[in-house]
Amino acid sequence: MTTNKRHELISLLAEQDDRYISGQALSEKLEVSRTAIWKHINELKKDGYQFESVPKKGYRLIAKPEKLNESTIKWGLATKWLGKRIEFKQEVASTQDLAHTLARKGAEHGIVVTTNKQLSGRGRMDRRWVSDHDGGIWMSLILRPNIPPHQASQMTLFVAVTLVDTLERVTGQKIQIKWPNDLFIDGKKISGILTEMQAELEAIQYLIIGFGINVNQLSKDFPESLEGKSTSLRMESGQEWNRQAIIQNVLRDFEIAYQTYLDTGFEPIKEKWLAHAYRLNEKIHVKTSQEDYVATVKGITNDGALIVLNDKNEEKVIYSAEIIW
Ligand code: BTN
Repeated sequence: MTTNKRHELISLLAEQDDRYISGQALSEKLEVSRTAIWKHINELKKDGYQFESVPKKGYRLIAKPEKLNESTIKWGLATKWLGKRIEFKQEVASTQDLAHTLARKGAEHGIVVTTNKQLSGRGRMDRRWVSDHDGGIWMSLILRPNIPPHQASQMTLFVAVTLVDTLERVTGQKIQIKWPNDLFIDGKKISGILTEMQAELEAIQYLIIGFGINVNQLSKDFPESLEGKSTSLRMESGQEWNRQAIIQNVLRDFEIAYQTYLDTGFEPIKEKWLAHAYRLNEKIHVKTSQEDYVATVKGITNDGALIVLNDKNEEKVIYSAEIIW
């Protein structure tokens, strides 16, 4: 059986939820013999999949392996184009850098680059992104959207909103977005997003959307400097999470939301962003090279800048500043 058939087999089994599917049905759907199905079920067991098999009823998938690799991400992944190619590395300097290299060589729209550990993970403004632990999700997507370059900043907000939706649904945690694009639980950072673009005047050549999600780290896994500032889904919820299941949910939701964004534009995203905005209508401290003032957070513009009111009730639009929240 080819790797593709194996992916199809696991997808079919995963789609059944709690139902059984017979060896006969599997062999007809995949157009291979029942012996081939039986052999491959045994191979999957070696990879850590667990099945229940009942005579006359068939097979039921009861557990998937925890291991993160190209196959475990693909098996059961319900997307049409996103992640059809997954570039997985046990360890890499930065998925962002690898994605740039692939995109420069012509890698197509929808390739997902991911890893267990990053040795030089990077964040916005050239900051370090701590990701040398295999408890997180470190991922970069290569996209070639047909939108003008000035709209690319909307993509960052779109990604933030989409991640919030997925993570809230899957984990039940309440997540907020701190401008411009940090995800917070209870005042601590759970995820960061880095959108980078290669463009000409009129057209985007490619976008690399990178995001890190702290999933199963414990407080001892973070450097002291991040104490009280960063957190993980496990630390907040008290339970370990299956990274592969979260990745599959993120990719499926992303693909659907991406089409909705292209069809309906930015307005619904902006509304969702505001509904999750960290410290909306509260006071913050804004510092730029020219000014230093206290202001109230009011919203965002269509290109993702922060709208605030100063103490004279004048509206200010902030593209970049140091903000003390
Ligand atoms: C930030 O909060 O400043 C953005 C953090 C972005 C981290 C992700 S992890 C995957 C990808 N690879 C990197 O080196 N950075 C991004």
